[in-house]
Amino acid sequence: MKSMHKLDIDLVEMTMDVMKYTLNRISNTSPDLGAPKTETKLLELVGDTITENGIGGEKALSLFKDVLVKATVPVDHPKNFAFVPASPTRASILFDLITSASSIHGAYWMEGAGAIFCENRAMEWLVSLTGLPDTAFGVFTSGGTVANLSAMVTARHTWREKKESRKVLRSLMLTSKSAHSSVKSMAKVIDADVVAIGLEDDKMTGKMVREALAGLSEIDRERLFAVVATAGTTNAGIIDDLKGIAEVCDQEEIWLHVDAAYGGGALAAPSVRHRFNGIEKADSITIDPHKWLFSPYDCGAILYRDMTLAEEAHSQKGPYLSIFKDEGAYGFNPADYQIQLTRRVRGLPLWFSLAMHGTKRYQQAIERGLELAQIAERHIDVMDFVEMVRPVSLSCVLFRRKGWNPEDYREWTYRNHQSGFALVTPTQWRNKETGEHETVARFCFINPDTTQDDIVSVLESMHLDS
Ligand SMILES: Cc1ncc(COP(=O)(O)O)c(C=O)c1O
Repeated sequence: MKSMHKLDIDLVEMTMDVMKYTLNRISNTSPDLGAPKTETKLLELVGDTITENGIGGEKALSLFKDVLVKATVPVDHPKNFAFVPASPTRASILFDLITSASSIHGAYWMEGAGAIFCENRAMEWLVSLTGLPDTAFGVFTSGGTVANLSAMVTARHTWREKKESRKVLRSLMLTSKSAHSSVKSMAKVIDADVVAIGLEDDKMTGKMVREALAGLSEIDRERLFAVVATAGTTNAGIIDDLKGIAEVCDQEEIWLHVDAAYGGGALAAPSVRHRFNGIEKADSITIDPHKWLFSPYDCGAILYRDMTLAEEAHSQKGPYLSIFKDEGAYGFNPADYQIQLTRRVRGLPLWFSLAMHGTKRYQQAIERGLELAQIAERHIDVMDFVEMVRPVSLSCVLFRRKGWNPEDYREWTYRNHQSGFALVTPTQWRNKETGEHETVARFCFINPDTTQDDIVSVLESMHLDS
């Protein structure tokens, strides 16, 4: 029987086909906006793909190319303004191929040194954006959720280690109602309670944190192991009062984690950098390069003020692992600072793209996302059928189509998506005057290739359909 691991002519042909697909895809500036089909429908279209003897690479690739990929949304589509879109640089995508082709184990220096070296250079740049001290560092994770979880594990471990009595105490963290859902769901993973303060879509301030602390019972105050602030809420781009919150956490000796998964890219943008002041006081920070730093999925990052605390919390021990800690093999071991052991060197594509283009191009591309939001706001202000619901924050634009109900927004979203025109989804916004939740439209810009015409055409699609 033919081996899967041998080189043969079929493999050479397959390599050419894969390269051809890749080149076509990355040179396509306006890929078709795919839309989902039901699983039953997809099965009907492609049939059984996993069989005893295989269907052959050519057939599998053509099914993917001709049917399956068309049922996916290219996140870098210039009119994809939904959720937090993405726009990996072509250099980073190409290096993602190299990352895979190189088969590198990224957990330990012993096996991954050269690649971890590259990740570390990219990490140094991330750390420099935050203003954390030189002693701070971090590691790349699979995304913001895992970065948040890794930080929480470290924060709680550190808190527990400080007092014997805390070993049996159920832990508690404080965050805002606007914090990302992953913060609350990762609290479930570590079985911690959460106190969420403030109002949805509102900034959490130092004063609010101070008052919340004052309102805690003695035992709850003792149970508190971290405050989680957000630098760029997913819904509206709101940045908490990091300076004020950091002051309170410093005085009260509480771990401060800042979730900048989405907003973190904007640390590189001089026009808004001041809005993050205070982030340099954090004990840990989440930044997702796969959001606003143009990396392919998946790539998150967790940064720590004190790496030794992360190591104490995360470093895994086992008979077959001790060689990694041996002096002869020792170097920086990413597995020691986050929850994952075996890991892809997922910071490599970011490193290559940064090395190739330089940090200034990153700055310009991020500034462009901020500018696109301003452009959208200006158009909304002069169009009589739409109005802003709050000023732009970072690259998030929340606006209302006058006279529309939730069903209108829903239909508009599906119509634009199904016709391959754009992906723009509605969201909920808490109306400050009424306190009620209202369905509104939301743009989030990441892709620097989005044009003013793209924005205007999407806005006009709300008018034509009235
Ligand atoms: C503020 C914030 N935190 C965390 C996350 C979760 O990140 P990920 O989806 O990479 O796990 C997101 C995702 O949108 C986010 O916007």
